[in-house]
Amino acid sequence: MKSVTLLTLTTLALAALPMHAALASEKLAQEKQCMGCHALKDEGAAPAFKKIAAAWKGRKDAEAQMVITIREGSAGTGGPHWNKAKMPDQSERPRVSDAEARELARWILTL
Ligand code: HEC
Repeated sequence: MKSVTLLTLTTLALAALPMHAALASEKLAQEKQCMGCHALKDEGAAPAFKKIAAAWKGRKDAEAQMVITIREGSAGTGGPHWNKAKMPDQSERPRVSDAEARELARWILTL
């Protein structure tokens, strides 16, 4: 009986892990002021993250290209590509490390 409870708890904890990771990444996006221009679902000054995810999903270079955009702005990948404003480089927003850019790109691709 006890082991069944433990197993259930472990399963629940493991199931909750990806949720926590997603929340942590969303918090990082807020800290880095991504959400000042982007929203998850709504179009604004910048394309919605869900729309960006849909456009890039399945492309092998998605993560690498998004890391470049996140660090260097749209100019880094020859953009803008969305018929909107340009995404600025890091002189105009909080600095994002390579590891943070990777985390943000992976998170966006899960949306
Ligand atoms: C000052 C406004 C602004 C901020 C802040 C900003 N973005 Fe953007 N972002 C844009 C705009 C505008 C575009 C569309 C550019 C284009 O057409 O390529 C864009 C495009 C993107 C793209 C898609 C590029 C493509 O080629 O499809 C990604 C990914 C992205 N932003 C991630 C981020 C992340 C992560 C952050 C936070 C670290 C962030 N953005 C902060 C304005 C912003």
